[in-house]
Amino acid sequence: MLKTKYYGEFGGSFIPEILVSTFDQLIRAFNEAKADPSFWQEYTELMSTYSCRPTPLTFADNLTRHFKGPRFYIKREDLNHTGAHKANNVMGQGLLVKRMGKTRVIAETGAGQHGVATATMAAKFGFECTIYMGEVDIERQRPNVFWMERLGATVVPVKDGTRILKDAINEALRDWATNMDNTHYVLGTACGAHPFPEMVSYFQSIIGKEAREQILKREGRLPTRVYACVGGGSNALGIFNGFLDDPVELVGVEAGGRGLDTGRHASRLASRDGTVGVAQGYKTYFLQNMDGQMRETHSVAAGLDYVGVSPILSSLKDQGRVRFESATDKEVLEAFSLTLKKEGLISALESAHAFVQAYKEAPHMAKDDIIIINQSGRGDKDIFLIAEALADPEWIKFIQKKAKDYK
Ligand SMILES: Cc1ncc(COP(=O)(O)O)c(C=O)c1O
Repeated sequence: MLKTKYYGEFGGSFIPEILVSTFDQLIRAFNEAKADPSFWQEYTELMSTYSCRPTPLTFADNLTRHFKGPRFYIKREDLNHTGAHKANNVMGQGLLVKRMGKTRVIAETGAGQHGVATATMAAKFGFECTIYMGEVDIERQRPNVFWMERLGATVVPVKDGTRILKDAINEALRDWATNMDNTHYVLGTACGAHPFPEMVSYFQSIIGKEAREQILKREGRLPTRVYACVGGGSNALGIFNGFLDDPVELVGVEAGGRGLDTGRHASRLASRDGTVGVAQGYKTYFLQNMDGQMRETHSVAAGLDYVGVSPILSSLKDQGRVRFESATDKEVLEAFSLTLKKEGLISALESAHAFVQAYKEAPHMAKDDIIIINQSGRGDKDIFLIAEALADPEWIKFIQKKAKDYK
């Protein structure tokens, strides 16, 4: 009998019959690993020697002065190997794959960060690797595709539907159903059927564990607020997990795209457009039409451009434990520039959503309040998007020259 899990009314396991035994095997392997103290030890050891953990908690003194308080801290997930928090999840799942004795991994990817992280993990552990990616995302994130292929992965362009992340997930599930004996599906965020939401947040909880210890050591007290961007929800749950039982306000920031009133966004929890539904194996708030068809989403940040959201976050929203806000593409570019100029930090466009909300609220906070912003990834991967959005004339010239050279 398939064991499942709900978070309030959200979560569950809505999977095809054929995958039941594979999910059972995964649930068993995960539960055994969790109960074995040496597993977490092995995981933290791997992350400290391979991925720069613990990542620093940087005091942002220039931003603190700029806003005249609160005291800004930035959790530096951008310093993970491969440049984002995605490494925490894939390396953890890689250890589980070894425990299960499987030899092939598959994954979906939107921004490409998760694809690069999975291909890296596969190279390190010696697994065969296939990555599913929507054609539209492949166009937006060619540098990541380049690295996945160089790392030895096969990148399969997904031509169905709107050709973005949700379509890549469907395709990966199809692959898994036919190859489950030797294959593990490395889901990239805290979504999907049980045990993925729990398992991904378990590995990502390393962020919050560290951040809590670091802020107590540095300030001797807890932060007032913690901010994180929300795509599927894994980096947010990762840092929030450290503070869920504390009197700390938790703020998740979704993609407001062109604006919530334009319909061109990916805000499932902060907008009024998200409705409860079942898709891709789980129940949560989705952006869907009256017939349950998934809507098109939009964000300048490919990693936030997803129709569903973690069932754990949906439940935390309904409990009122996490507040959800949204940031528009325009606000994101402004916040990105301010962080860069004031602190010398190139944040991923995804992470810049969290900065937007912190910058909006800072002027209304007390001078000695403390805030932590989770910088989920670094923005080097976004150079094409950012340079284009800022219409940098020298960059345009550079690209035009390159294009001419290739003719
Ligand atoms: C840097 C970065 N931050 C955030 C996200 C959003 O994912 P999640 O909400 O699971 O943290 C992504 C997804 O690709 C990402 O690459």
